[in-house]
Amino acid sequence: MRIVYVNGDYLPETEAKVSIFDRGFLMADGVYEVTSVLGGKLIDFDGHAVRLERSLRELDMKMPMAKDALLEVHRELVRLNGIDEGMIYLQITRGAPGDRDFVFPDPETTAPTVVLFTQNKPGLADSPAAKKGMRVISIEDIRWGRRDIKTVQLLYPSMGKMMAKKAGADDAWMVQDGFVTEGTSNNAYIVKGNKIITRALSNDILHGITRAAVLRFAREAQMEVEERNFTLDEAKAADEAFITSASTFVMPVVEIDGVSLGDGTPGRVAPRLREIYLEESRKAAV
Ligand code: PDD
Repeated sequence: MRIVYVNGDYLPETEAKVSIFDRGFLMADGVYEVTSVLGGKLIDFDGHAVRLERSLRELDMKMPMAKDALLEVHRELVRLNGIDEGMIYLQITRGAPGDRDFVFPDPETTAPTVVLFTQNKPGLADSPAAKKGMRVISIEDIRWGRRDIKTVQLLYPSMGKMMAKKAGADDAWMVQDGFVTEGTSNNAYIVKGNKIITRALSNDILHGITRAAVLRFAREAQMEVEERNFTLDEAKAADEAFITSASTFVMPVVEIDGVSLGDGTPGRVAPRLREIYLEESRKAAV
């Protein structure tokens, strides 16, 4: 049975408990991180820890433990569950004040709730989906205005995945004022010739940890990167497209709203970036 972490304890998943008054449960008042594990080691841990601290700060919460201690909890869960390839999910909420109230509880008397669990995914890196590429549909982006904060408020992204599933596609790209913001749980890119185009960082999108690494590797490999808005029409006319996230790394997109990109295969740039990302990330893994 899976061993999970709850507020300082390592417990079998069936014994782990969180209050019904937890603000994560009642109000989606919490943030999360997903860190991938390859070869039993953590990918981009530092980036995820830094973003976690920022998400918490933006919501007037504090890191519940030092970064080193957090790393140890991640490592202990990997060890206890024997994870070679997979993910670690971490969630921190504003805690359980003992009743329902819109007003934030006093952090002196209400401790945050800290939960971590592993997801075992053998074959995560050698994914067949990465060889085939994925198909996306477009949907309107109707999320709130602080998408840079990684909150657990994931109802609309879940609905987007369901809309994609219903349409026989793999995922959805969200569009605001005609411009693509991001995927339901990933950052979105198009490729034109040798140029990689992706929306610039703002409150409109999550500042992907994989995005930062992939753009750095792309520049190091002398690829051209343009951080700007792109329209859905521009995406449909692109040579290639792809997404990035901690759980998919770099994943080619071969179809948008039923329109095939290029020759309908993953193309040249996305598979190359995936290869570089996996190689470099494994080297830097902790
Ligand atoms: N999602 N944009 C959104 C809306 C996301 O939810 C995610 C991550 C990303 C990519 O960020 P990163 O490269 O740091 O994983 C972009 C995680 C994986 C999830 O919800 O499971």
